[in-house]
Amino acid sequence: MISFRSQAKYDKDATVILLASGQTNSRFKKELEKGEIYPVLEGAKSFLFVGLGKADKLSLTELRVQVRKACLSGYLKKAQTVEIIPHSKEDASIMAIIEGVAIGTYVWDKYKSKDKDDKTVKIKQVTIAVEAKKAFSDAIAVCQGVSLTRDLVNDNADTITSIYLEKTVRNLIKGKNNIRLEILNRKELKAKGLNFHLAVNQASNKEPKLIIVRFNGGKKNEGYTALIGKGMTFDTGGLNLKPTGSIESMKIDMSGAAAVCGLLKNVLTLGIKKNLLFVLGIAENSIGPAAYKPGDVITGYAGKSVEIGNTDAEGRLVLADAISYIVKNYKPDKMIDLATLTGACVVALGFDYSGLFSNNDLLAGQLLDASVKTDDRAWRLPIYPELKEHIKSPVADLKNTSNIKGGGACTAAEFLHQFTQDTTWAHLDIAGSAYTEGAGRMYYGHGATGAGVRLLTHYLLNN
Ligand code: BES
Ligand code: MN
Ligand code: ZN
Repeated sequence: MISFRSQAKYDKDATVILLASGQTNSRFKKELEKGEIYPVLEGAKSFLFVGLGKADKLSLTELRVQVRKACLSGYLKKAQTVEIIPHSKEDASIMAIIEGVAIGTYVWDKYKSKDKDDKTVKIKQVTIAVEAKKAFSDAIAVCQGVSLTRDLVNDNADTITSIYLEKTVRNLIKGKNNIRLEILNRKELKAKGLNFHLAVNQASNKEPKLIIVRFNGGKKNEGYTALIGKGMTFDTGGLNLKPTGSIESMKIDMSGAAAVCGLLKNVLTLGIKKNLLFVLGIAENSIGPAAYKPGDVITGYAGKSVEIGNTDAEGRLVLADAISYIVKNYKPDKMIDLATLTGACVVALGFDYSGLFSNNDLLAGQLLDASVKTDDRAWRLPIYPELKEHIKSPVADLKNTSNIKGGGACTAAEFLHQFTQDTTWAHLDIAGSAYTEGAGRMYYGHGATGAGVRLLTHYLLNN
């Protein structure tokens, strides 16, 4: 819970005072090093002076990191109410402080038993000493969408099933206007020929689902932008089973679909007036006697056949059907998909950047701009005509794996590209950025990060 008031009052259980070099506070004269946290205790109240270093050298990322560090510091453990006194009144800084609190202090502890002796107060009221502005309350709302995405990704694969995701979507749109929901279950997927999607889910005991929320928030004659998420509720790899060391985190393979849920929440709470399609391609890539097989040739919704080079390259299959279905039946102006698609993207970019691919330089530029503004980072990687050679098959129109070693994120993107029918399209490979292991990175703790949610919310708000 974050609120604003224009005056600092030093009346809360704890006060966090952010100080750039040269700034002083009436209660404190000492010059702090960058990253230094200096506590002053007065009775039951604590005051935390946080050194930010030179203001002109402080990146907004570092600011979020410092705010997170202060909020998680032991001195604040027992504080129920916290006041933050910013070092700057600039919108961008205040928004970074909000994110440092809302994104930085997120923890996934649903299954941790609560220690009876631990008096840690988890629910904090945070008051930021700054004039309230719409941009600030919007920033808080965006973070709530990010938290929804993180919760969905962090929970068990057998909890966040296709049925659960359907319920989540239904709850988000309940009572809202200008919305139509279309859901294709196994029966409808079969009747309509989304055979890639069905094949991937074949060994699962769960229902495959293609969920489409059509939101008419914009003008009648305005085209649709489709946001399409990969929703592999668990990816075992199928018969090409993932080895120990790779399989353990694969509940996160629905991060794209979870991001689409976060985006749906944000669009509705922020009242974004656009015509949008929220699409979740949900399946489970299981292993068992019913599983689809390496070497199979399958013809999907678009009528193109694909040779299965590897059952672990399942995301592109489900997305190919989802993209084809949306292109044919909803004819969007633009499509943006989010997918934990390739380990190769992690090799190429690491964990801090999503891979961005697009057939349209304007859209790519707008997304990169949104990525810079939000710090939800993306880096463009190429698709180009020659890539098609690498996904050719002697027995089918395409193959779901590449004939060459290297560049696997690009060949996967090119595979999706083959189903876009020249619709303006972008693809975010969030395989590395959606999740952090160990102690976390930047201002993200362990687990899901909500990659793509801030980026695309910003994009929708500003384009
Ligand atoms: N879900 C994985 C990609 C992934 C890897 C996500 C690591 C997050 C972290 C995807 O379905 C996959 O298995 N891709 C394969 C493709 C290969 C078989 C061509 C990969 O990247 O190894
Ligand atoms: Mn896979
Ligand atoms: Zn996968």
